[in-house]
Amino acid sequence: MVRAVKIAPSILSADFARLGEEVRAVDLAGADYIHVDVMDGHFVPNLTFGPPVIAAVRGWTDKPFDVHLMVDPAQPLLSDFAEAGADIITVHAEADIHLDRSLQRIRDLGKRAGVSLNPGTPETVIEHVLHRLDLILVMTVNPGFGGQSFIPQQLEKIRRIRRMIGDAPIELEVDGGINPTTAPQVIAAGADVLVAGTAVFRESDYAAAIRALRPAG
Ligand code: DX5
Ligand code: ZN
Repeated sequence: MVRAVKIAPSILSADFARLGEEVRAVDLAGADYIHVDVMDGHFVPNLTFGPPVIAAVRGWTDKPFDVHLMVDPAQPLLSDFAEAGADIITVHAEADIHLDRSLQRIRDLGKRAGVSLNPGTPETVIEHVLHRLDLILVMTVNPGFGGQSFIPQQLEKIRRIRRMIGDAPIELEVDGGINPTTAPQVIAAGADVLVAGTAVFRESDYAAAIRALRPAG
């Protein structure tokens, strides 16, 4: 089966002084989603931005905002991110002891619900919430920073989750160290949404960079 592959540039690697223009530029370059990395300086050792910044750049594109919350706890902030313009809201399984409730809440807010797994977290933690999921995000680096090296041991987890998903309408996204070399590996393992920060924003031609991540032909 040939799956369509979506590319989600991560604005973590964009020029923050020109964030709106950067969002528009990757939209015009062919991005499918805009990946927004929210970091709290607690769940991960880095701080980025929150709902006001997301709301400020929301008007620069019509593409879905794919908001990756590296935040503990995320539950109290879900409605703020929904109001700011998130389309997909992804929480980390490790940051949420009431994962089932948070996923319900995201859908109640009218948004698509995602869960993310750190490299050390087994896929079994999501076995009983699959019916509440629209997206599963497999971290292929330890979250917190752009520009890290892909962890190849995650390929087996991607393959297992692809089998878990079966025919369910759940997207399988990967995040961290995705570039023209690793993209074919994660696609072969079953990924259908690729996040890429460095591989897009460090290139001068965003359209060429996005094309280079899609399957050949
Ligand atoms: C890492 C973030 C990623 C990051 C990926 O914590 O979740 O989205 O921006 O960056 P690259 O593509 O540079 O590995
Ligand atoms: Zn991310």
